[in-house]
Amino acid sequence: MTNFIGRLLTQTSIYDEYSAFKRTRDISKKISIATISVMRLLCIGVTAFVLFMMLIILISQRLLKKPVIREKEAIEGDLYFIVVGDWGRNGTFDQDKVAHAMGEYCKSNAVNNNGKCHFVISTGDNFYDDGIHTEDAEQFKTSFENIYTHPSLNNTPWYVVLGNHDWRGIPKHQINYNKKSKRWNMPDHFYSMLIPKVVQFVFIDTAPLDDRYQTNPKMNKDISSQNQTKQLEYIKEQLRVADNEKVVWKIVVGHHPVYSAAGHADNPYLIESLEPILEEYGVDMYFAGHDHNLQYLTNENKTTRHFVSGAGSEVRIDIVPHEMLKHDVMESGFMFVSLRRDSVNVTFVDKEAKARYTVPIKSLI
Ligand SMILES: *[C@@H]1O[C@H](CO)[C@@H](O)[C@H](O)[C@H]1NC(C)=O
Ligand SMILES: *[C@@H]1O[C@H](CO)[C@@H](O)[C@H](O)[C@H]1NC(C)=O
Ligand SMILES: *[C@@H]1O[C@H](CO)[C@@H](O)[C@H](O)[C@H]1NC(C)=O
Ligand SMILES: *[C@@H]1O[C@H](CO)[C@@H](O)[C@H](O)[C@H]1NC(C)=O
Repeated sequence: MTNFIGRLLTQTSIYDEYSAFKRTRDISKKISIATISVMRLLCIGVTAFVLFMMLIILISQRLLKKPVIREKEAIEGDLYFIVVGDWGRNGTFDQDKVAHAMGEYCKSNAVNNNGKCHFVISTGDNFYDDGIHTEDAEQFKTSFENIYTHPSLNNTPWYVVLGNHDWRGIPKHQINYNKKSKRWNMPDHFYSMLIPKVVQFVFIDTAPLDDRYQTNPKMNKDISSQNQTKQLEYIKEQLRVADNEKVVWKIVVGHHPVYSAAGHADNPYLIESLEPILEEYGVDMYFAGHDHNLQYLTNENKTTRHFVSGAGSEVRIDIVPHEMLKHDVMESGFMFVSLRRDSVNVTFVDKEAKARYTVPIKSLI
């Protein structure tokens, strides 16, 4: 046996083995040489296969930015994320201040993750006034990379949707930026992100669901060729995936609010097409932007809680009475969400990184 292993490990070449095999007339020796050769080839084969697979995994991780965050990362503590909207203004208005407050708030409140938020969600209107017009537009730097630089947000992934101002430019450039930036995630107009057993996010493109934009001369003409049915079917399909995966929370993110107590008001198109899906599939939260403030709306007959977070740079003081409005903050800021299987807290935070209001939500499951 030791002799066998010894020979397996000696450095004789395959060719030497082969000539030894040919030379010997002893059948048991022949078998032993053949066995050793086969085992050596197997060792080489398995090693090569493992190395090859490692290479494939490495390459694919670089190419396909993983839209799925692993369970262990999500559950060891709470999951922390920020929801911010309507921000890209080269740092002007309050964009710089809000960016700094986002980092500061994560630093002191993402307690189980070393003061780092897991990710940031953008509710759209990423680049004012007219979106992105060229592949390498300066605004990717002046409104995004150079603004969200706080150490607590430095390498934090962003999950982004398109707003109506983004649709004034060429949305494809923002989608392609997915491949260029380490932090920017928007692989398509609509997509999803699953954290197994915990939460499913569905990110959607609401401007094409609002027919009024199709005749708006400021919009990219492509908006009318977007297939509304296809997107609505995708949303349902992803919410069924959420059920199959037995997640506790379902969250949908779009730019336009279904309900809003501010200037842009309720959206009749989304009330007709999107809200029935949110209710039928038991979506827990719908996050939007578009109105430039922070709002929480719901009523006793609705499953879905509606949040408006569109105060990432400019603020508008235009709240009007609304029977679903539970709270609003008419200042620039963002929402900080801490989420675990049994509860979620959505906190409204202002540009001084002060918590202004928290919506505590308990899981029904
Ligand atoms: C930001 O700067 C770019 C030029 O670098 C300009 O095209 C864009 O309009 C600016 N956006 C705002 C909101 O000022
Ligand atoms: C839109 O999408 C639906 C569902 O995927 C499909 O049945 C329909 O043919 C599409 N319509 C057009 C005009 O492409
Ligand atoms: C909730 O539903 C009940 C029964 O249909 C209705 O009477 C009530 O007005 C509804 N509440 C709201 C706020 O719409
Ligand atoms: C939400 O806030 C309540 C009250 O402060 C706290 O007990 C609970 O642990 C929080 N849940 C999460 C997920 O942060």
